[in-house]
Amino acid sequence: MDKQPGKPAKLGINTRLAHGGYDPHDYHGFVNPPVVHASTVLFPDAETMAGHRQKYTYATHGTPTTDALCRAIDELEGSAGTLLVPSGLVAVTLPLLAFLAPGDHLLMVDCCYGNTRHFCNTMLKQFGVEVEYYDPLIGAGIEKLIKANTRVVFTESPGSNTFEVQDIPAVVEKAHAAGAIVMMDNTWATPLYFRALDFGVDITIHAATKYPSGHSDILMGTVSATEACFKKLDAAYTALGLCVGGDDAYQILRGLRTMGVRMERHAKSALEIANWLERQDGVVEVLHPALESHAGHALWKRDFGGAGGVFSIVIAGGVNQAHAFLNALKIFGLGYSWGGYESLAVHVNLGGRVITGKNYAGPLIRLQIGLEDPADLIADIENALAAARTA
Ligand SMILES: Cc1ncc(COP(=O)(O)O)c(C=O)c1O
Repeated sequence: MDKQPGKPAKLGINTRLAHGGYDPHDYHGFVNPPVVHASTVLFPDAETMAGHRQKYTYATHGTPTTDALCRAIDELEGSAGTLLVPSGLVAVTLPLLAFLAPGDHLLMVDCCYGNTRHFCNTMLKQFGVEVEYYDPLIGAGIEKLIKANTRVVFTESPGSNTFEVQDIPAVVEKAHAAGAIVMMDNTWATPLYFRALDFGVDITIHAATKYPSGHSDILMGTVSATEACFKKLDAAYTALGLCVGGDDAYQILRGLRTMGVRMERHAKSALEIANWLERQDGVVEVLHPALESHAGHALWKRDFGGAGGVFSIVIAGGVNQAHAFLNALKIFGLGYSWGGYESLAVHVNLGGRVITGKNYAGPLIRLQIGLEDPADLIADIENALAAARTA
């Protein structure tokens, strides 16, 4: 996109989403990039091959399709480089493997995505990394937990399922002062609503499976880094043999083109439903950072440009009420993940948490608000709440 002459320098987010990463005039004017299916790339002669003196050498190191997506994400993130990996979980595990060694100390936020915790408690511990969970509300207090061997502070804001908002600039300041780097799982906000690198984060992580895909049909993760961190990250990526297929990369780039308008709709519907839920019988609490009642609202407002479309509610009762609620839903599907066009609900399991999520007055239900008409979703939830009340 940068190469196109005559375009204004400061473009709006939807313009950048529509045109980022690929110049149609690089490929015969076709609006979309070609989907390159490849492993082998041929060299014209032995000398070029010996020196790897051409742009593409083997498809694990990129193709025109994956490059288009990486460039589009770099433009959104302001990053020096982006790597594509087979799932959002790999986007978490790759940078941790790249930057941690036996004997190192990792500060991991306690409200991290559940499988991030599983990786830390199994593989990282097996490799001799000391993992310590910290309170997402700690802010500058993180300083007290930083040790001489702390290499990484991992953040996720808002937290998975419980939606605590972290003071990212305060955490970054203390981590950097101690020589540690900061990683952030920024899947909820996407770079549209939180540009992590602008807040000093060194490595930003996305489950592209969610909003960038938008259609619940692709698994992918992206890891984007500053200039200072990219080389080490890329070396680990190459050493591990990670890559993604051209078809999947194409679909994620396709998803980016409409992500802005989809996110607006997700956000608007989710907030409307969250506001409505606050007034309903049988709803004890609504955990959505864009609500004024949310403990992290001021921080969210200070740092974020918008909200994702997934949040949680605490309903009155116990497991029976949670199951009655879920079983009564007709439009919401019962399924993991989020960010697709369809609404989903799940009974949240906070097992494994050591600091957060202990004091809720009832079961937690996470709602992913899709692109359906909000009035239909409200009617579906109303019916489910009635079922829970009589269970
Ligand atoms: C915050 C967050 N990060 C990462 C992931 C992992 O993504 P994937 O399902 O693509 O592995 C998820 C999945 O739910 C998530 O919610």
